Amino acid sequence: MRNSNKDGLAVVTGASSGIGAVYADRLAALGHPLLLIARRANRLEALAAQLQNQHNIDVETLALDLTSADDLRTLEERLESDNVEVLVNNAGGGGLGPLSSTNGDKMEALVRLNIVAATRLSQAALGGFRQRGKGTLINLGSIIAFWPSATAAVYSGTKNYILNFTRSVAMEFEDTDIRIQVVMPGPVRTEFFSSQGMSDSVFPDEYYITADQLVDAALAGLEQGEIVTNPTMEDPKIWEDMERARANYFASVSSGKVASRYLST
Ligand SMILES: NC(=O)c1ccc[n+]([C@@H]2O[C@H](COP(=O)([O-])OP(=O)(O)OC[C@H]3O[C@@H](n4cnc5c(N)ncnc54)[C@H](OP(=O)(O)O)[C@@H]3O)[C@@H](O)[C@H]2O)c1
Repeated sequence: MRNSNKDGLAVVTGASSGIGAVYADRLAALGHPLLLIARRANRLEALAAQLQNQHNIDVETLALDLTSADDLRTLEERLESDNVEVLVNNAGGGGLGPLSSTNGDKMEALVRLNIVAATRLSQAALGGFRQRGKGTLINLGSIIAFWPSATAAVYSGTKNYILNFTRSVAMEFEDTDIRIQVVMPGPVRTEFFSSQGMSDSVFPDEYYITADQLVDAALAGLEQGEIVTNPTMEDPKIWEDMERARANYFASVSSGKVASRYLST
């Protein structure tokens, strides 16, 4: 057993590359023992060896496909039984392209990974957090939650789900010390696009930040007590305006009356 500053395990899904690998590094630097999840065992093992050496912590890896019900259950059981202090639900896919170029199985796999896995794992972790009165849940959303797109119908839908799901759960836990955050990245330089057979330059160069920048900003937002963190939004007033517009929308549709433009004259 190596020396860890923290007893609680930090679990990161999708730790074999990109944003997840950076979360693993930052949580290791804080002294958390780690449990790292992805499908590519070799990548996970290489990262684990590096983090063990650099940070003198215990790192366990589990090669799991989170679209598989059995593999997902394996991780849920670990979240239910272990002393987990942090869960980062980061594993995610894009399935980018028009709906006509995909098929039912691919769409279902994307929903299983981006929605079903994140939902079940959140619930499994929160049970232990509730019992111990502490814990941190971080879910990876995306700015595409607010941007319906002809080439990302399923992806944008799944990320909108993650936003609403995480915000709703945060309300349920608001009187506790449990921290719940949804992170809303814009374009980040990772393997996200190339792993789907797309160009690395889907967006102009200047739209991208690095995974290091993204995770450091997101962790700063977490420390500031944010539930929704928009790492690349300079002016927080934009978010406040969106929240006001959302409240106005809800007030206006709660009128109990059909809008006059839909009434026959
Ligand atoms: N990059 C961006 O521009 C961007 C923008 C907004 C939001 N995000 C979100 O950020 C998160 C991380 O993405 P990233 O940019 O770091 O992309 P990435 O480098 O492609 O990483 C995705 C991670 O998810 C894992 N993964 C994929 N399918 C999996 C499965 N079925 N089971 C288990 N693990 C699986 C991958 O590992 P294996 O292949 O080894 O399984 C990999 O570790 C995602 O939720 C993504 O939607 C990214």
